[in-house]
Amino acid sequence: MPPTGSHPRMLVTRQIPEIGLELLSKHFAVEVNKEDRDLSQSELLRRLKGKFGVVAMLSNKFDARVISGLGELKVISNFAVGYNNVDVKAATEKGIAVTNTPGVLTDATADMTFGLLLAAARRIAEGDRLVRAGKFKGWTPMMMLGHDVSGKTIGIVGAGRIGTAVTMRAKGFGMRILYFSHRRNRVMESSGARAASLDRLLSQSDFISLNVPLTEETRGMIGRREIGLMKSNSILINTARGEVVDEPALIHALKEKKIAGAGLDVYTNEPKVRREFFKLANVVLAPHLGSATFETRGKMSELAAMNAIAVLQGEKPQAIVNPEVL
Ligand code: GLV
Ligand code: GLV
Repeated sequence: MPPTGSHPRMLVTRQIPEIGLELLSKHFAVEVNKEDRDLSQSELLRRLKGKFGVVAMLSNKFDARVISGLGELKVISNFAVGYNNVDVKAATEKGIAVTNTPGVLTDATADMTFGLLLAAARRIAEGDRLVRAGKFKGWTPMMMLGHDVSGKTIGIVGAGRIGTAVTMRAKGFGMRILYFSHRRNRVMESSGARAASLDRLLSQSDFISLNVPLTEETRGMIGRREIGLMKSNSILINTARGEVVDEPALIHALKEKKIAGAGLDVYTNEPKVRREFFKLANVVLAPHLGSATFETRGKMSELAAMNAIAVLQGEKPQAIVNPEVL
């Protein structure tokens, strides 16, 4: 426990935009990991000793073992909308609030989804490599042809905030929109999206966008069988979590041209990326940039700080994953 009269202590596991640190420092003695690397699990545990809370990154794994070793910790404020890095059940049993940053990163992530979709369909990254290599010999009628986006069918897997924002963009591109979810989304439907089974979505879509959280249900959801249902001209976009897709099955399909391409922002074993992807021209690879804009990261920083402060003040945070602990 901090001495009486001093602020409770807060660990921030990576440098984040200043706005959140300023807010936190009004209420906490803030300790930031300023090194340009993640804390190891043992460093994390050591630095969590005596802390009231932590602003955590996806790379910090709060599994049941780590959580059982946490003393006085009251809040894990995840600097992300996804919280698959936290064993929420174990945290709840220990009375630790888990918060996240939904909403503020919805548009940025939907924009990234369309960025990857366009880059993959129109071969933008591949074209950039060609120009840099000095291989651009002039416009020709048959050079580097890609696929139209306008008027095509997009299948959106997941109907949360991000899936809804992807729908709005798809509508702007004049696309036919299918979606798969266990619950109906009237907002998506009023923008022209039609509910479909996953199999029908996969077999009819030209573009497939994954916008589900990683859960036990979605892990490996797009496996060999599902990829086998996709059309040969189809392009898979993943801005959700790498683990939703069976990567070896995807690599096989891309290599054998069973599907036309992919645009990936996330990988199964980040930050490691399977080397087989590097050899494939028909995949666009981004380094998990879905929410990476100045504006959005600023808002995430602010929300992550306010969530932690609310827990300290005994109020309900704006975004809490396990409200039953309050
Ligand atoms: C990033 O992947 C997030 O979940 O916010
Ligand atoms: C993300 O915020 C989602 O719910 O899709």
